Amino acid sequence: MDSNSTRHDEDSVFARTVIDAKLATADEVATCVAEVRRINREGSAVIRLAELLVEQGYITESQRRRLSEDSRGDTTYRPAQQIPGFQIQGKIGQGAMATVYKAKQISLDRIVAIKVLPKRMGENSEFVNRFYREGRAAAKLNHVNIVQAIDVGEAGGYHYFVMEFIDGKTVWDDLRERGNYNEKEALDIVTQSAQALQHAHERGLIHRDIKPKNIMITKTGVVKLADLGLAREMSDMEAAMAEAGRAYGTPYYISPEQIRGEVNIDLRADIYSLGATFYHMVTGRVPFEGNTPSAVMHKHLKEPLVPPDHLNTTLSAGVGEVIEVMMAKKREDRYISTKDLIMDLDAIVRGEPPLIARSKYDQNVLHELAVGGETISMPAIEVVETREKEYNLWPVVGILCFLLILSIVINIVMILGD
Ligand SMILES: Nc1ncnc2c1ncn2[C@@H]1O[C@H](COP(=O)(O)OP(=O)(O)OP(=O)(O)O)[C@@H](O)[C@H]1O
Ligand SMILES: [Mg+2]
Repeated sequence: MDSNSTRHDEDSVFARTVIDAKLATADEVATCVAEVRRINREGSAVIRLAELLVEQGYITESQRRRLSEDSRGDTTYRPAQQIPGFQIQGKIGQGAMATVYKAKQISLDRIVAIKVLPKRMGENSEFVNRFYREGRAAAKLNHVNIVQAIDVGEAGGYHYFVMEFIDGKTVWDDLRERGNYNEKEALDIVTQSAQALQHAHERGLIHRDIKPKNIMITKTGVVKLADLGLAREMSDMEAAMAEAGRAYGTPYYISPEQIRGEVNIDLRADIYSLGATFYHMVTGRVPFEGNTPSAVMHKHLKEPLVPPDHLNTTLSAGVGEVIEVMMAKKREDRYISTKDLIMDLDAIVRGEPPLIARSKYDQNVLHELAVGGETISMPAIEVVETREKEYNLWPVVGILCFLLILSIVINIVMILGD
């Protein structure tokens, strides 16, 4: 990792620690993160998040020192070195919640990745139970596009998750480097991700955190969906707010129902988040931008989506339609399964229209007209009406031919009868 990303990683963990300690709100920390990024981009000196938080009066100097020690505890090798049966070879990555290490599993002489959670998570017994339950469920999944879960365990008070090591990069790494993907590449990655999700959904597992950082790509171009089945300590809403503390993120990919804190989240939440990721991949922009996580989340709930083909005019209409259906604000207006989504993606690859998305548009329009229409859904109507459509006339032609043949047969029968 370069020093820049190490700095970002450390700032992410620090931000999380400040929010957890309730010294500042997620929005306040997010504002400071944005300010740090601006200063570092424009200025000659490099400033750290901790310094700015002190400067702005959110924390005192002594709190900064104490919190720095706390957050460093999670980023050193110390916790991982205590895991029996594994030899740590180095740190691979740092998320806002956990640290990922490369390690050798001594018994099988193979390289694995180990995600180590901060100690504080082990203090919540409900979370620990869920972590093990979901870890076991994830280990039952076996799909070429899913990072294989190997083991869950606890050592020295740290809970960890052993998984297949992926020698590659994340979609987020690519987006940071090149801005966006071309349509063909994006279709390939999204289709492989949808296949991974289909496998999980059919076995009752929902991801809940699909985003560019959780989609990995191997050196040979195989997608590996990460973090599937990992228990979450917090509600989706809290998790989204906590994203404020991350150096790079705000809740850019979360579904409206997760924001509303609904309890019965289903696979359609994953379809929304994959749609938001798809949007970012083909336009180079997140679907909704805002200065704070609350602002972004408000837009997920209320603001009409700028159709992706308005931002990237080289996109085929089919891709735009699919993304808009994936990202419908009401989940009943989205695809009902990943299988349907894959059928549409395959159709686009073959150069055919995405028929399910197209019929969904029509249904959505009828639905909106029937209930009087909410403002947030109106853009879908506009899109339907402005987009050129190819009507399928074959059923009508078929019926006419059938009637013609029937009348000929009746005439022949009548003539023969005479
Ligand atoms: N199985 C794996 N093999 C190789 N590298 C991995 C693996 N899993 C995760 N990583 C790397 O570790 C990094 C940190 O992963 P982690 O899931 O903790 O956080 P994240 O998904 O990047 O971000 P966030 O905390 O915001 O969700 C990833 O970005 C990825 O680069
Ligand atoms: Mg991850």
